[in-house]
Amino acid sequence: MTLRAAVIGAGAMGRHHARVYAALDDVDLVGVADPVAENRDWVERRLRVPTFDDHRTLLSSQRPDLVSVVVPTQQHLTVALDVIAAGVAVLVEKPIAATETEAQVMIDAARVADVVLTVGHVERFNPAVRELKRRVDAGELGRVFTVQARRVGPFPARVRDVGVVVDLATHDLDILRWIVGREVVRIQAETAQRIHTAHEDLLVGLLRFDGGAIGLLNINWLTPTKIRELSVTGERGMFVADYLRQTLTFYENASADAHWESFGQLQGVVEGNATTIRIDGGEPLVAELAAFAAAVRDRTPPIVSGEDGLAALRLARAIVEAGERGDDPAWGGP
Ligand SMILES: NC(=O)c1ccc[n+]([C@@H]2O[C@H](COP(=O)([O-])OP(=O)(O)OC[C@H]3O[C@@H](n4cnc5c(N)ncnc54)[C@H](O)[C@@H]3O)[C@@H](O)[C@H]2O)c1
Repeated sequence: MTLRAAVIGAGAMGRHHARVYAALDDVDLVGVADPVAENRDWVERRLRVPTFDDHRTLLSSQRPDLVSVVVPTQQHLTVALDVIAAGVAVLVEKPIAATETEAQVMIDAARVADVVLTVGHVERFNPAVRELKRRVDAGELGRVFTVQARRVGPFPARVRDVGVVVDLATHDLDILRWIVGREVVRIQAETAQRIHTAHEDLLVGLLRFDGGAIGLLNINWLTPTKIRELSVTGERGMFVADYLRQTLTFYENASADAHWESFGQLQGVVEGNATTIRIDGGEPLVAELAAFAAAVRDRTPPIVSGEDGLAALRLARAIVEAGERGDDPAWGGP
């Protein structure tokens, strides 16, 4: 069955959604909505699909089966509610909404209407990260001790309505929750505002997960080179995934296997082999939108739920607040 897809919002990110739908097998891109004429022109010239200045006209005239909502975050809720009211499956770009209350309203509306809702946490679809997750779940690390996310780079030229925590760290908060498979029980954060006119542009955060794993977030817009890296350390070694290069490396704890049989638990840490794991690369957005279409076609739950989107946003808000409070009751200074 060929599905009819549409995109609402044809800015920087929405154009990618439109391009990918137009090229996906068993999906037809039937329309794109954006109030800005220049953005509609781009779509018409490049993709040759009908465009609309109002998303409600797109919904009523093109009757899509699935829609990506790629408008500014402040408008996610109103636009997503229109899509849900039309009975159409919706992918909302991340972060799910501007506030946790709005996110909950969206989730409830989708449930009542029995409409698929998913959130564009695209890093879940990075082939290197998927392979890392598969291996962690298969027990290749044994118990996980720590998960670290480094996402740094230059300050984006466009004016931002949110800080780096809600804009960027939501990616990593979702990934860390997913990799560990547990919820966060404690948060500590240092944030700073060095360039941004309204919000924080630097975060160093510490998370403790139920079960004891510790998460570290090093996220900023103040670094003159772009780095997106995830490392997971456990009893048997460490995996390091590079999102941009789509590489995965395993650093073995040579002590783990030698002692496992006799003691059944970790006795030491010794540098072992470093192995580069072969990854079949691919564009994460293609995998994300193909998975969305598959969930709609097969009536299966989406890979990233509305609740996952809300959990990442809730953590991000708590981190912003922790950074603003800046309290540490245990340390009174030298
Ligand atoms: N997953 C990712 O890695 C990623 C990357 C970038 C942006 N995003 C998210 O995507 C969303 C859009 O970001 P962007 O960078 O593309 O912003 P943008 O400002 O470049 O584009 C937003 C577009 O939405 C249009 N728009 C506004 N209201 C509309 C409406 N009611 N109907 C139709 N179109 C409307 C605007 O005219 C604009 O063209 C944000 O939520 C952002 O957080 C996600």
